[in-house]
Amino acid sequence: MTFPTHFRWGAATSSYQIEGAWNEDGKGLSIWDTFTEMPGKVFRGHDGKDACDHYHRIDEDVKIMSDIGLQMYRFSLSWPRILPQGTGKVETRGLDFYDRLVDALLKANIEPWITLYHWDLPWALQLRGGWMNPEISDQFQNYTEVVAQRLGDRVKHWFTLNEPQVFIGLAYALGAHAPGWKLSLQENLVAGHNALLAHGKAVQALRANVQDSKVGAAPVGICFRPATESAEDIEAARRATFNVKAPANSTPEGIFDSLWNSAWWMEPMFNGRYPEEGLERYGDAMPAFDEADLKIIQQPLDFFGANIYHAQTVVAADNEDGYKIVNPPAGNPRNTMNWDIVPDALYWGGKFYHERYGLPIFVTENGIPCVDMVSPDKKVEDGSRKEFIRGYVGGVKRALSEGVNFAGYFYWSLMDNFEWAEGYSQRFGLVHVNYQTFERIPKESSKFYSEIIRTNGAIL
Ligand code: NOJ
Repeated sequence: MTFPTHFRWGAATSSYQIEGAWNEDGKGLSIWDTFTEMPGKVFRGHDGKDACDHYHRIDEDVKIMSDIGLQMYRFSLSWPRILPQGTGKVETRGLDFYDRLVDALLKANIEPWITLYHWDLPWALQLRGGWMNPEISDQFQNYTEVVAQRLGDRVKHWFTLNEPQVFIGLAYALGAHAPGWKLSLQENLVAGHNALLAHGKAVQALRANVQDSKVGAAPVGICFRPATESAEDIEAARRATFNVKAPANSTPEGIFDSLWNSAWWMEPMFNGRYPEEGLERYGDAMPAFDEADLKIIQQPLDFFGANIYHAQTVVAADNEDGYKIVNPPAGNPRNTMNWDIVPDALYWGGKFYHERYGLPIFVTENGIPCVDMVSPDKKVEDGSRKEFIRGYVGGVKRALSEGVNFAGYFYWSLMDNFEWAEGYSQRFGLVHVNYQTFERIPKESSKFYSEIIRTNGAIL
């Protein structure tokens, strides 16, 4: 079976992780520029000052994408490169950079898909409270207008927020990501609500400024798979996928764990409601909100996007949640971040999200970090990555054959890059990057991916 003719293949990156040029052409500081300066926060004190030096290598990088045969490229805009103070004065040199990138992509016949927010908040806005500030959704709307007016004549596909579960939970509860705060559940829920409002207002700004816009979001798809294909286990996995767990306690870990779910973030966006279960379990910690807020958050969207890397395995259980998490079989492979590799994550995630939300599904990220080494003849033989792609994309194929409306897949990432608190220790790329010379070497997996694209999945 080949994939449907409208199915699209791509790869993804984000601004702070690849651009470098942290203080060039008038760019303001982002929260990651300052966070990486804090001792002990990032693996070996790495930072994104130079990253992959993509800022100076657009032509080379677009040529690589074109050689792979990518049909879409998902990248994010650095808000402080465009509005150095977050609001107010626009830095046209920042906009010029994205303008050149978009033109180069279009010339190479690669569709640009822009993410508005992939975690590099302007530092100036953090000083005003960041996602805790009630004005942040208006600030985000204003930034969206600026970029939509400049790029919207050529860029039709947009994502608002990347992984709110991470840029709130990991950053404001656990303190492991910028700005490194450890706040209460209540404060996290305020920041989360503001982020959801920002999503809604950005969609409005895109609709108003981009003709024929296609808009979605890219939350983490926190997925669960049944241990067996019995009807009970499948139902348990479905329940788990849309469950909001009660916070086990008020430690940063307890708060983070409770916010680490799909439904709290997806239900307001797609169905205009917070999940009842969550409202009950968060109780008094939930800030006041009204119907008007929910109307802003629930904007009609064109597709369902989710970043999916793994899934937890569950069995049916006679408890309040109706499921229990179990280990995958002994010997199940794990990647270098210690995440279990479960190829049917995309199958089950796709199936459950399709049932509930109906929209065409884009896998906005999926990938694997491996130990990748360069051979003397400059090859990177990354067999595990090939098998990862074969398995996970195989799950998409199975889902398609059962009527799940998958419409596209973005591999994470086009190239090795700065993996946040893990610094440069994790290599996810289809392309190897030498961080001293910035030399790029397409890995063997990129050739495999090219074949998948060329045959529209027929080789799988
Ligand atoms: C999700 C994030 O969006 C991306 O920035 C990160 O590098 C990958 N997952 C891998 O952890």
